[in-house]
Amino acid sequence: MGSLLIYGSYGYVGSLVAEDAIDRGLDPILAGRDRDQLREQVADLEQPGRRFSLEEPDVVAEALEDVDCVLNCAGPFSNTAEPLVEGCLRSGTDYVDITGEIPVIESIQDRDEEARAAGVTLLPAAALSTIPMDCLAAHLADRLPEADSLALGVDSIRIPSVGTVRTVLEGSNTEGAVRRDGRVESVPTAWRTREIDFGRGERPAVTMPMGDICTAHYTTGIPNVEMYAMLPQPARLALESHRYLTPLFESKPVRWVLKQLAGVRDGPAEWARERGTAYVWGEARVEDDGERVVSRLRTPDPYVVTVDGAVTVAERVLAGDADAGFQTPADAFGAEFVLGLDGVEGFFDEETPEETSPLSPLLR
Ligand SMILES: NC(=O)c1ccc[n+]([C@@H]2O[C@H](COP(=O)([O-])OP(=O)(O)OC[C@H]3O[C@@H](n4cnc5c(N)ncnc54)[C@H](OP(=O)(O)O)[C@@H]3O)[C@@H](O)[C@H]2O)c1
Repeated sequence: MGSLLIYGSYGYVGSLVAEDAIDRGLDPILAGRDRDQLREQVADLEQPGRRFSLEEPDVVAEALEDVDCVLNCAGPFSNTAEPLVEGCLRSGTDYVDITGEIPVIESIQDRDEEARAAGVTLLPAAALSTIPMDCLAAHLADRLPEADSLALGVDSIRIPSVGTVRTVLEGSNTEGAVRRDGRVESVPTAWRTREIDFGRGERPAVTMPMGDICTAHYTTGIPNVEMYAMLPQPARLALESHRYLTPLFESKPVRWVLKQLAGVRDGPAEWARERGTAYVWGEARVEDDGERVVSRLRTPDPYVVTVDGAVTVAERVLAGDADAGFQTPADAFGAEFVLGLDGVEGFFDEETPEETSPLSPLLR
């Protein structure tokens, strides 16, 4: 097995990923820009460490010279993916990350040709968003090959980590997004609402600008993709009002205060991760004749899936199982890949779904 470097290894997800990689015998190099945090983690986990920041492309490429695969856990990825991808292309290192940011995935996809020429795999979004939704999309496309539109969704109430809150705040002026006719299209926040049976009865859901609208499209070729997240009523109202609050979020003092507030907690504790669940739903449709298929998945806690998914993807990339170029999880390893992750159940297929189904297959 080749060498793995985890960048952002002392962040909330990064440290869970580092521990899991060590447990699997991957012997990772721990890396990041902060000397003190890295030194402490290196001493704690008794692994090699490498400190470097991402401003200088030559420094990044040099730091990756002897590395076979980088697993980037340093978000917001709008600040870290571009320099690490550049460094990987220069040093011939494969690249995996856990971003869910649409512009980041699109910019990595733009480097597909370069990556193929360099023999380098670029596999972003190896996390809750997008492994389960991407694999579900591939499964739905197998069930209905003529489909021209996809709706995907996730239902999981969970306390986000500080890093996730920061990433959302950084992107809070990007509004919503869907994929239409193959292109990412900006739409207002909470643009569309819909009642969805994720697997435990119908719940209100709203469109969310998640990276799944990229990966599901590149995996299946389906040109229209919407991504929904279940929201309880008060959160939905808050999000809808966010349309009118956007100018406020864009104000620097307000964003600064929100970021400080987000700094009070690192992320969900172990007990919360053990109890968490995510319900994943997908629908493929042929718009002209209304033909429609629905499938579902149930996964453990989003952070558990993220850690297991990211390390498993890195392991498979190190084993040489992914082709060179831009890859999505399902493209690289097939629709069934998600079923190999710990605790994932599915696919639950509806053969002839009703428009609304009062009792889901998971509960029958
Ligand atoms: N796609 C998904 O489903 C999914 C799931 C979970 C998390 N995520 C994303 O993963 C990211 C990490 O989450 P987290 O909870 O682990 O956050 P976190 O605890 O804040 O950790 C972030 C890490 O990134 C590093 N970092 C940030 N900006 C950097 C920069 N410009 N240069 C170098 N290092 C930088 C930080 O190092 P310093 O301390 O040195 O700044 C830290 O090590 C977030 O963006 C989150 O949204 C995605």
